[in-house]
Amino acid sequence: MRMVDIIAKKRDGHALTKEEIEFVVNGYTNDDIPDYQMSSLAMAIFFQDMTDEERAYLTMAMVESGDQIDLSNIEGIKVDKHSTGGVGDTTTLVLAPLVAALDVPVAKMSGRGLGHTGGTIDKLESVEGFHVEISEEEFVKLVNEDKVAVIGQTGNLTPADKKIYALRDVTATVNSIPLIASSIMSKKIAAGADAIVLDVKTGNGAFMKTVEDAEQLAHAMVKIGNQVGRQTMAIISDMSQPLGRAIGNALELQEAIDTLKGEGPEDLTELVLTLGSQMVVLAQKAKDLDEARGMLQEVIDNGKALEKFKTFLSNQGGDASVVDDPSKLPTAQYQFELPAKRSGVVSEMIANEIGIASMMLGAGRQTKEDVIDLAVGLVLNKKVGDRVEEGESLLTIYANSEDVEQVKQKLYDNITISDHAEQPQLIHTIITE
Ligand code: URA
Ligand code: CA
Repeated sequence: MRMVDIIAKKRDGHALTKEEIEFVVNGYTNDDIPDYQMSSLAMAIFFQDMTDEERAYLTMAMVESGDQIDLSNIEGIKVDKHSTGGVGDTTTLVLAPLVAALDVPVAKMSGRGLGHTGGTIDKLESVEGFHVEISEEEFVKLVNEDKVAVIGQTGNLTPADKKIYALRDVTATVNSIPLIASSIMSKKIAAGADAIVLDVKTGNGAFMKTVEDAEQLAHAMVKIGNQVGRQTMAIISDMSQPLGRAIGNALELQEAIDTLKGEGPEDLTELVLTLGSQMVVLAQKAKDLDEARGMLQEVIDNGKALEKFKTFLSNQGGDASVVDDPSKLPTAQYQFELPAKRSGVVSEMIANEIGIASMMLGAGRQTKEDVIDLAVGLVLNKKVGDRVEEGESLLTIYANSEDVEQVKQKLYDNITISDHAEQPQLIHTIITE
């Protein structure tokens, strides 16, 4: 087989075979195929697309390029959730204990935050003592006993994806549905999921700016999952403004506790119930989404979800008493309000820019080596569609520095107040097959 023939075949719009795709993925991972040929093929795929079969072959070739996590010693159907990334996205912190309270096994491999989006591990580490450096044996044992555990990234997962993604980044070929879909799905499958729930974000804070693009990506991923024997469902949700009210590590941990008590922000609660219902159905603990939703509401109301969160924290060394005494969480030295400059209705709060403002306070990393400040961040007092009077606080800044002028300017630049505005639709589409 010759790479040049494979490039020509794709350039001319033909479908590649399983053997050809494996040849490309293995050859590129082993450095037998040079960057210039791989980038040429990526561009040909960008223009010519891939069939459903090709997408599934590409996904599995990337899965098989490295280690795969073996969760077969965990009883039950392991359902993983993936979000395409957002600002103030506190869902995983709530979902993990919530579905575990219904005996859905949550064996979560998670990462740290980079750029304007936060990472689940960072948020959890705002609880004193909590750590994810546990052995795979311990991880499996915890999930079997208590149904939920989080482990840091282990093993050499999907090296082919790492290498191809880095190349796409500098060859203007990131924005290709078959390449994004196979990239995301390969990582979930290598991490051991039996079933997958996808939260595809749309809006100015997201990768996919329009609902149509997000739907295309979601359908592509659901198809891949189902083709390779991993049942997959997806939703399209809004990320034009931050999710919930809190942005920042300890602040989001507090928000998760509130939500598990049934006292969380409306949008976060709704998203958690929607995604959680899909997880419960895929784990075969309920026959349909309505029944699942009722079960989730019940464990929030009777306190079992919150109890599960405490068990989860203390199992991994965390001080679970923070749940009842939030003053034990890291707290920022200063609080500043951001007063509205006019009366009206909030019409825009640009999610990614507000995420960057939070990062400027120290809540996020610009580079992997940065040390983050767990205490700082933002809490929105108003959201899009809310009425506000001149001088009233739009949001509260939690800082460990008195100089927040640049942050305030960034926030003012990205929040708009108009005469009229409506609340954006939170959940656009629910895709079950
Ligand atoms: N995120 C991924 O993991 N892969 C892509 O290709 C794009 C976004
Ligand atoms: Ca939030």
